[in-house]
Amino acid sequence: MKSISFATVVFCALTIAQTRSSEILVIFPTTAQSHYRVVRPLIHSLLDRGHKILAITNFPDAAERANLSHIDISGLKPHSKFKTNNNGIINTMKRVITNFNTYATILNHPTVAKLLESRQKFDLVIAEFFTSTPIFAPIATVVDAPIVGFCPMITFPWINEVMGMETTMSYMPSLLSNSTDSMPFFQRIVRQINKNHYGIQTESVIKTMANLSMIMTNNYHSMFLPFPKLPGIIEVGGIHVVDPKPVPQDLNDFINGAEHGVILFSLGSVVSEESLGADKLNNILDAFLRLKQRVIMKFDADKYKIQLPVNVKVVKWFPQRDLLAHPKVLLFISHAGMMSTIETIHCGKPMVAIPIFGDQIFNTKLLVEKQVAVAIEYKHLESDQLFDAINEALTEKYAIKAKRLQQLYNDRPHSPLETAVYWTEYVIRNKNESKELLKSQKVHLNFYQSNLIDISAAFLIPLIMTIYIIQWTMKRLRKH
Ligand SMILES: *[C@@H]1O[C@H](CO)[C@@H](O)[C@H](O)[C@H]1NC(C)=O
Ligand SMILES: *[C@@H]1O[C@H](CO)[C@@H](O)[C@H](O)[C@H]1NC(C)=O
Ligand SMILES: *[C@@H]1O[C@H](CO)[C@@H](O)[C@H](O)[C@H]1NC(C)=O
Ligand SMILES: *[C@@H]1O[C@H](CO)[C@@H](O)[C@H](O)[C@H]1NC(C)=O
Repeated sequence: MKSISFATVVFCALTIAQTRSSEILVIFPTTAQSHYRVVRPLIHSLLDRGHKILAITNFPDAAERANLSHIDISGLKPHSKFKTNNNGIINTMKRVITNFNTYATILNHPTVAKLLESRQKFDLVIAEFFTSTPIFAPIATVVDAPIVGFCPMITFPWINEVMGMETTMSYMPSLLSNSTDSMPFFQRIVRQINKNHYGIQTESVIKTMANLSMIMTNNYHSMFLPFPKLPGIIEVGGIHVVDPKPVPQDLNDFINGAEHGVILFSLGSVVSEESLGADKLNNILDAFLRLKQRVIMKFDADKYKIQLPVNVKVVKWFPQRDLLAHPKVLLFISHAGMMSTIETIHCGKPMVAIPIFGDQIFNTKLLVEKQVAVAIEYKHLESDQLFDAINEALTEKYAIKAKRLQQLYNDRPHSPLETAVYWTEYVIRNKNESKELLKSQKVHLNFYQSNLIDISAAFLIPLIMTIYIIQWTMKRLRKH
């Protein structure tokens, strides 16, 4: 323990001397609270180190803090939860495109518009790296600051391309690998919005983000997969996880009364619990009824008339991270959202994953490959299937693998938060060069150049001509 705090002190002392107090603009436009939870610890660490922050967010902190101000954009875009069905690629893309037009309204928000008109300067912009980035990245030019992206997911389409590397599908799984189908459509909307708001027109969606100096991602190689990556992709997976707090009294009593341990159930905050339907809920409760363990369910059951088994406690919200850390909690039944996935790994517990949409499917695949989770397809969520999956995941094999994954996840030179602070200040310190420092030169090359087509052509054309001339000469010679 001593050596860790010593390292932290040295780390802080090394960097604090070099970076003066800076003005930082944070833009996190999506209405998913889990995304903002990823950047909030970084914001507070940067404040601790004397920086000033203005955050454009749907989730301003309740408590006031010196040098932190917010532009509250909540209510501009209603938070639409995902239904438990109908999340195919077409519907997901439709949603992305509808969201785009709503995101554009943020730029018209009186306070945001005033800020952009004022030509106030900042030292850094931190922008959520998500579907909205193509229309928010140009703000950096308006406020004359370098810009870094912060991706709340493990990875996201374009992440590599923006830093100057191709995503190779064969071994670098992508979240929305089919999203390229709707690219032309997407491109049109982005161009229109950027032209109207900034007078900027770029040739592609990737190019709208070309000024990003760096992207932080919610990943760590030992936690998921080791990808080839450029220096500008900084892994800060687990940044949102803070030290556990004691569990509230009523939940603690329920846990302590459980002779055979406790299982947690939650579908997170972006899946609509209403859309689950009575039959699926009954399947779930029927499986729980047959367990000897106790179950704590995070579920809004108001819409349902249900008879709860005695071993089940239903609450509208629970302190998930603190519960997962409890030694009597054995297993998490989860939609495998990003936050839940990381908190489960952090606490070394196995999972029964019921992915519903988006990155949940991707996270589940990775957890299953690591043998720390048993997956159930939502459409096959029957009582027997769930019961069997729970019992499978409760076997020792999963507990051992989960503990091992926890160790691999924790084995790092610096905590995710220290890493994020260091690289954020790195970009501020090296503002003038930052656009080029961490990316590959590929960002400046077009398709022909980066695939060496021009070079190949320079060699191939004389070669082909020579062969042709030889053949022609031979033909003439044979004729004579
Ligand atoms: C607020 O920022 C200023 C520098 O701009 C600094 O001098 C002051 O100590 C900060 N206040 C707090 C409470 O961090
Ligand atoms: C990138 O930065 C340059 C220089 O500040 C600016 O001219 C250009 O418009 C920016 N591009 C985008 C897409 O924001
Ligand atoms: C992507 O497209 C392929 C072929 O069109 C299809 O087989 C696959 O299921 C799609 N993936 C997703 C996630 O929709
Ligand atoms: C960055 O560029 C500005 C303007 O060209 C210059 O005044 C400043 O000294 C440079 N900063 C560093 C650290 O080189």
